[in-house]
Amino acid sequence: MSRVALVTGGSRGIGAAISMALKEAGYTVAANYAGNDEAAAKFTAETGIKTYKWSVADYDACAAGIAQVEADLGPVDVLVNNAGITRDAPFHKMTREQWDQVIGTNLNGIFNMTHPLWTGMRERKFGRIINISSINGQKGQFAQANYSAAKAGDIGFTKALAQEGARAGITVNAICPGYIATEMVMAVPEKVREQIIATIPVGRLGETGDIARCVVFLASDDAGFITGATLTANGGQYMT
Ligand SMILES: NC(=O)c1ccc[n+]([C@@H]2O[C@H](COP(=O)([O-])OP(=O)(O)OC[C@H]3O[C@@H](n4cnc5c(N)ncnc54)[C@H](OP(=O)(O)O)[C@@H]3O)[C@@H](O)[C@H]2O)c1
Repeated sequence: MSRVALVTGGSRGIGAAISMALKEAGYTVAANYAGNDEAAAKFTAETGIKTYKWSVADYDACAAGIAQVEADLGPVDVLVNNAGITRDAPFHKMTREQWDQVIGTNLNGIFNMTHPLWTGMRERKFGRIINISSINGQKGQFAQANYSAAKAGDIGFTKALAQEGARAGITVNAICPGYIATEMVMAVPEKVREQIIATIPVGRLGETGDIARCVVFLASDDAGFITGATLTANGGQYMT
């Protein structure tokens, strides 16, 4: 029986590439999304990957959504916490709502998704938790106090939980993408994009596949000795 992987925000952008790469690697994949039904339906039609709608910011919705995925596909072996949002503003203009939304999705979301799955993974003595953090959680970013705080928090969560999961066969790792050529990044004016690329030593934006391949590796049995790690994939833009 193939292992089951659940990818949050798995119907668009980096998450879609992760879902497809895991399917290609032989996993049975469930892709969660928040609200874009049209994109999710198109994704399912093109890939055959089932999509499930709930917000990772809502603990009860996560528990119910996970229960549905497990009823349909079996116990989840691999969780990829990829769903994330930005609500950028310089701090003097940042609203409480912008702060709460980003912390709610990008940080609370990984608790809400991991917590309901943790006991089952411990009992089965196998699990892979892969948290998609960000270069901006490592180095900070102007107008992203909320996002940088949440993404740095994801790394702390990863390191703490890795210690708890180790004896139970559960690895917990983080990936920090640099600038990836998703719709969001491609929507910025070309001149700004060129300025960004000038700061990336390899001289290009990342591709979604660059991150998806990291996930497939960390999910594999070959990566069983790697836990609590932060894997940067940023073209050399920031070296920790
Ligand atoms: N793009 C980059 O350059 C970059 C760089 C570093 C890190 N990252 C991180 O990589 C991850 C993916 O980024 P992306 O650029 O691929 O994002 P994206 O294209 O905006 O896609 C985000 C995905 O997350 C889902 N989502 C958003 N809020 C959600 C919620 N509350 N509950 C469930 N799903 C939710 C969206 O669902 P809908 O389709 O329903 O909206 C969508 O499927 C994020 O964590 C981001 O912070 C991205």
